[in-house]
Amino acid sequence: MRREIHLYPDPVLRQRSEPILKLDDEIRALADEMVETLILRVGYGLAAPQVSVTKRLIIVDVEDELYIVANPEIVKMSAEKVLGIEGCLSIPGIETEIERAKQVRVEGLTLQNEKISVDAEGLLARVFQHEVDHLNGILFIDHVGRAKRQLLLKEYEKLKDKPKTKARAKALL
Ligand code: NI
Repeated sequence: MRREIHLYPDPVLRQRSEPILKLDDEIRALADEMVETLILRVGYGLAAPQVSVTKRLIIVDVEDELYIVANPEIVKMSAEKVLGIEGCLSIPGIETEIERAKQVRVEGLTLQNEKISVDAEGLLARVFQHEVDHLNGILFIDHVGRAKRQLLLKEYEKLKDKPKTKARAKALL
């Protein structure tokens, strides 16, 4: 079943998500629904709070690799940063250049309750950073200065009621 994606400024997007204590059927069903939602919306990633569940679960779908990670943590981050365009399924219609670490190592749990460690670079590293931010109530617009953020949000407000008037952002995370 496809889940509704909650849009900014829904307060659920600002909450800190809770660790998953037990990987049970409920979490697996949630993951299935998130994967379906992400594929239908043609995004690179989705975090549980975007579908209004404040649990630490993310889906990342980059270059035919699908990662479903519970309790993801970025345990290593390169000092080298790179700029790249980002958007977000919860703030559709706007996108901007954001600086992120070029490489990260993400650790967490699979749905089978096994430890997973992913060394990510480039777009994959960017998407992981974006999705882990969601679990901490942080949005991509928080990574730009106040003036730029206000400009983006003004544009978002204008587009909100007619999202189809603008071409879909390339990097919807
Ligand atoms: Ni997002």
